[in-house]
Amino acid sequence: MVCKLFAVVLAVVVCAGVAFGQPPLPQRCFESPSAWSGHFHRIDYSSGHLTHGYMFYNRTEFRLLYIHEPTVDVPQYENHWLFYNTRKSYRYYDKDDTCSIEDIPSDELIPRFGAPSESEYVHRDRLGAYTYNLGVTTDYFRMRTETGGTYRGFYAPEFETVATDFMCVPVIESYENIDTIPTHQRNMHWTYMNITTFPIPSAVWDLPAACRERE
Ligand SMILES: *[C@@H]1O[C@H](CO)[C@@H](O)[C@H](O)[C@H]1NC(C)=O
Ligand SMILES: *[C@@H]1O[C@H](CO)[C@@H](O)[C@H](O)[C@H]1NC(C)=O
Repeated sequence: MVCKLFAVVLAVVVCAGVAFGQPPLPQRCFESPSAWSGHFHRIDYSSGHLTHGYMFYNRTEFRLLYIHEPTVDVPQYENHWLFYNTRKSYRYYDKDDTCSIEDIPSDELIPRFGAPSESEYVHRDRLGAYTYNLGVTTDYFRMRTETGGTYRGFYAPEFETVATDFMCVPVIESYENIDTIPTHQRNMHWTYMNITTFPIPSAVWDLPAACRERE
């Protein structure tokens, strides 16, 4: 009797599952760990520039630093600090020893390196291969903007099998013809590599004299 009842309950559950599709996965990947560092490749299709380098991020301290390695276009290191607590951005060119300082617009929040809250979860995607475990499983998010742009983000959860694991790191983000959020991401493709949450040496946040003098 109990078995029979269980079978009926199971059948109802299964039928409901078929009728209404899979229950939606709880949303996750809306933010990265609060502090990390890693390599990035950035392709700006609007300007035709590829840059790569290292980045440091600490949301607790409201700080972000991109170290762009020299390229054909800019044959010197460019350090770009973004201090969201003082709302100042510093771009320092090591060979010229020059610094350009700008205000961070008041509506630009520190990036959370997660899927934008307006984006929709599409499905899981394996980047690379399942075979021999040569790859990484990601949650794929997509967003269309009012201007017809598309955002696509692939985020790797810390434990791919646990739906309630909200900690994800960005793997790929691409922005196509996006005029809105954020304005500088019009046609950009980002790839993140070798992310680590190892403590960041505090010296990376020290500004060179050329940036400090004009503060
Ligand atoms: C990523 O880490 C591996 C292992 O430490 C290293 O060999 C490789 O050069 C790193 N890649 C980049 C782009 O730094
Ligand atoms: C980020 O900043 C907090 C507060 O200063 C600090 O405790 C933490 O160690 C930093 N994280 C990393 C990865 O450096």
